Amino acid sequence: MTAPSSPLTVQPLWDAPVRLLHALMALSLAGAWLTAEADGWRAVHISFGFTLAGAMVARLLWGFVGTPAARFSQFVRGPGAVVAHLRDLLARRAGPHGGHNPAGGWAVLALLAGGLLAAGSGWLTWQGGEAWEDVHEALANGLLVLAGVHVAAVIVTSRLARDRLVPAMVTGRKAVPAGTPAPRSMHRALAVGLLVATLGFWAWSLGPTAPWQGAAASGGDGAHEGRSGHHRGHDRDDD
Ligand code: HEM
Repeated sequence: MTAPSSPLTVQPLWDAPVRLLHALMALSLAGAWLTAEADGWRAVHISFGFTLAGAMVARLLWGFVGTPAARFSQFVRGPGAVVAHLRDLLARRAGPHGGHNPAGGWAVLALLAGGLLAAGSGWLTWQGGEAWEDVHEALANGLLVLAGVHVAAVIVTSRLARDRLVPAMVTGRKAVPAGTPAPRSMHRALAVGLLVATLGFWAWSLGPTAPWQGAAASGGDGAHEGRSGHHRGHDRDDD
C-alpha cells in the first residue's frame, strides 16, 4: 500500500465491520480458551467456536468486497516486500502504513486460516470424531500461539514504527501516509446488523433448543463430551 515515508494525515481507515469482527475474534478466542476444559461450560465453548468461525468467514468475504484497507488485494504482498518491511522496522526506518503492513498482511491470513481450522476440527470432534479431539487441541494451541505472536508483533510494530495500531483498530481512525484512500462509508449499519445477528445467535445457542445443549452438563470426561460422548455412553450401557 502507500509508502510509509510520505507526510502523515489522520483519517478514517478501518471500517466498522473490520473492527467489530476483530473484537468478536479476540473475544471468542479468549472465551473458547477459558471454557475449553471447564465442566458444564461445553455449550458456551461451542458457541464461542461458532462465533469465531462465523466472524472469520465474514472477514474473509469482506476481504473481497470491503473498503480499500480491508481488501486482501491491498495488503497481501510478496516475500520481498515482507523482508524489506522487516528490515526497515528493525532499522527503525518504518513509519505508519495506510493499512496492514506486509508482514501484518500475512499474519491476517495465518490467523484466519488457523481460526477456521481450529473451529472446524472442534465441530468434527463434537460431531462424534473422537479421533479429532487431539487434532482440535493441537490446532487450538497453535492458534493461541499465533494470536500471542500477533499481539506481540502489534506491540513491537507500534513502538518501532511509531504507529498507534491498537487505538486505530478500536476507533477506525489512524495516522496514514497522505494520499491513502479513505473509505467512502464506514458501513456502520452492516456492523450493527452483524452485532444483532451475533447476539441472536448467542441467545439461541445457549438456550434449550440448541443441538449442543445436552453437552453442557457433562460428567466424566466432560471437557470433550459431544455427540460422540453420548454415543459412547450408550455403547458402554449396551456392553
Ligand atoms: C487483545 C488481543 C488483540 C489485540 C490487542 C489485537 C490488535 C490488533 C491490531 C492493532 C490489529 C491491526 C494491525 C495492523 O494495523 O497492522 C489487528 C489485526 C487483526 N487481528 Fe488482532 N488483536 C488481538 C487479538 C486477536 C485475535 C485473538 C485474533 C484472532 C484469533 C486476531 C486477529 C486479527 C486479524 C484477523 C486482524 C486483521 C484485521 C482485519 O483486517 O480485519 N487478533 N489486531
